Amino acid sequence: MDRIRIRGGNALNGTIPISGAKNAALPLMIASLLTDDTLTLENVPHLADVEQLIRILGNHGVDYTVSGKRLATQPASGRTIHFTARTIVDTTAPYELVSKMRASFWVIGPLLARCHKARVSLPGGCAIGTRPVDLFIDGLRALGAEIDIDAGYIVAEAKGGLVGNRYTFPKVSVGATHVMLMAASLARGETVIENAAREPEIVDLARCLNAMGARIEGAGTSTITIQGVEALSGARHRVLPDRIETGTYAMAVAMTGGDVTLEGTRTDLLQTALTALGDAGAEITDTPNGMRVYRNGNGIRPVDVVTDPFPGFPTDLQAQFMALMTRADGVAHITETIFENRFMHVQELARLGAKISLSGQMARVEGVPRLVGAPVMATDLRASVSLVIAGLVAEGETVVNRVYHLDRGFERLEEKLGACGAEIERISG
Ligand code: UD1
Repeated sequence: MDRIRIRGGNALNGTIPISGAKNAALPLMIASLLTDDTLTLENVPHLADVEQLIRILGNHGVDYTVSGKRLATQPASGRTIHFTARTIVDTTAPYELVSKMRASFWVIGPLLARCHKARVSLPGGCAIGTRPVDLFIDGLRALGAEIDIDAGYIVAEAKGGLVGNRYTFPKVSVGATHVMLMAASLARGETVIENAAREPEIVDLARCLNAMGARIEGAGTSTITIQGVEALSGARHRVLPDRIETGTYAMAVAMTGGDVTLEGTRTDLLQTALTALGDAGAEITDTPNGMRVYRNGNGIRPVDVVTDPFPGFPTDLQAQFMALMTRADGVAHITETIFENRFMHVQELARLGAKISLSGQMARVEGVPRLVGAPVMATDLRASVSLVIAGLVAEGETVVNRVYHLDRGFERLEEKLGACGAEIERISG
């Protein structure tokens, strides 16, 4: 199993290209199930989760080609992939596939909308707490689906097709909002979704669906209105930049000091997180094609954050921000409100010398003057990258084990950081 070895102490200076967003690419790829025409996605990141979803979609009958060249010979970033679901050959998503990636559960929306039935495995346990699917079930029932749970599978049927309705989510869910957008696009009549997620990835999916002929208004606000259409066509769509990757590198620069341009991204995608970073002492400015992040000389100030649905502070940057706060001049409180049990990085950061105590959903982080490298391991994607950030300033050598978590969500991480002066390498095997 690959590992990442880091020798801490170098400031980051240079340019880092930001990839297409994983969390936008996944629902966009799933949207290809809605049409028998070709959906072309540009700027698709080269990530393990994307490859896994390609395999899962193939199981339902989606063919894909990568523009020009074969997959293995493509440059690592910014691929253009054409997805065609001419015929849906299987409306079952088996446990072996869904359990590997939770987002693949979202195929339930387009399968129901297009084939009027779907049999999708419950996603099963997840390292960051129980992640139920009740909101998906309630929402799809509101559109007229009959849903049973049978032997670990959700069996859904909508004889005669889905029918538009008004539905208010009792809790904000990104995934359930994606699924409702896809399902309602092919339902009869009007659907109004209240308390919808407002994440930029929702806006990106809505833009793509509209390019395919859907009639969606209000994406990016809490009320989304969808006029169902009979069929959707193909389209060409560019995946928006990854705001979590952007925020992660911005936090890495705030941690090490230095001056880095993050290219191909946008500050408006992560305003709250950038405000917190600014409060912590980093300077952030817009550039024509992205943003510049720098911190020279001054220490890191402690800043309290509370995770919240967009436009709040993203839970997907919580671990990285905590890593930064381990070196602050004082005490910071970090509260996680989205997922229970998303503090697995705490113990590992402690192995590097961080002083963190937990009380329920709040972590109290007391900044320390130095971290010291050690072997560490993480059980999820964002936690792993927080250990990399800590390793960049830890004295001596930090080895991050279980790198496959990083490969799920960060494209060429060691190359991107290495190009800016970090001493970081992948050890194979
Ligand atoms: C998506 C992101 C993930 C991010 C999360 C929150 C993708 C592929 N993943 O995950 O990186 O951390 O949004 O921003 O885009 N919930 C229920 N019932 C449900 C569905 C969700 O109670 O039926 C709960 C979850 O357990 C969680 C909260 O709602 O506590 C938010 O989850 P949700 O927004 O659905 O996260 P995902 O879409 O899975």
